[in-house]
Amino acid sequence: MNPAGLPHSPAAERNREPILQVLCGLLPPAASVLEVASGTGQHAAHFAAAQPGWTWQPTEAEAAALPAIAARCAGLTGVRPPLPLDVMLQPWPLPKAEVFDAVFCANLLHIAPWPTCTALMAGAARQLAPRGALVVYGPFFVDGETPSPGNLAFDADLRSRDPAWGLRRLAKVADEARRAGLALVQRFDMPANNLMLVFRLRQNRGEQIG
Ligand SMILES: C[S@@+](CC[C@H](N)C(=O)[O-])C[C@H]1O[C@@H](n2cnc3c(N)ncnc32)[C@H](O)[C@@H]1O
Repeated sequence: MNPAGLPHSPAAERNREPILQVLCGLLPPAASVLEVASGTGQHAAHFAAAQPGWTWQPTEAEAAALPAIAARCAGLTGVRPPLPLDVMLQPWPLPKAEVFDAVFCANLLHIAPWPTCTALMAGAARQLAPRGALVVYGPFFVDGETPSPGNLAFDADLRSRDPAWGLRRLAKVADEARRAGLALVQRFDMPANNLMLVFRLRQNRGEQIG
C-alpha cells in the first residue's frame, strides 16, 4: 500500500520482503539499526512494522526526502525521526557514543561515486556495536561469475547518466571494507540478481569470504 502523495519506489516494494527475511535471520527480535540512504522510507516502514522490537533510525542525504520518510513511518513506535546523513561528511553527525547492532544500506553504492563506498565503510565501522553487522544490499559484479544481462544493462545505463556511477566489483568493495576494519563474512543471493552482503568488525569476524 502506498500512502497517498508519498514518493514511491516500485523496486523497494518488490525487494522489501526478501530483504526482511534475511534481516530476520541476522538480527535478534530486539535490535537497533541505523539505515543509510533511506530514500522513500519504504524499507524502514516495512521492516519496523514487521519487527516492532527493532529500533530503526532512518537517514538520508537529501534533506528534502526527510519529511516523506517521517510521514511514511508515522505511528510506527520503533522508528525514530529521520536524520540528515551524507555518508561523505566524516565523521557522521550522529551522537558520538551511539552504536547500533546493524547498519543497513540498500542501493547506494552504484548510484554514487566510488569514494562513497570508502565513506560508508569508515562510517559504519565507527557506528557498529562490537558484534554488529553492516548489511549492504544491491547489484554487484562478482569476479568469476557471469554477470546477468540485466545487471550489464543497468550498469551501462548508470554510467551513461554519470560516469562516476555504476555497479561495483564485490572484491573491491570487500577490500575497502577490510581497510576500514570490516570483514565480509556472508553473502546472500537475492532476487533479480542482487546481493545482500554482511560485514562484521574484523576482531569478531568469522571466515573472510571476499
Ligand atoms: C537508489 S536510492 C535507494 C533508496 C533506498 N535505500 C532503497 O533501496 O529504496 C539511493 C539513495 O541514496 C541516497 N544517497 C546518495 N548519495 C548519498 C550519500 N552520499 N549519503 C547518503 N545517501 C546518499 C539518495 O539520496 C537516494 O535516496
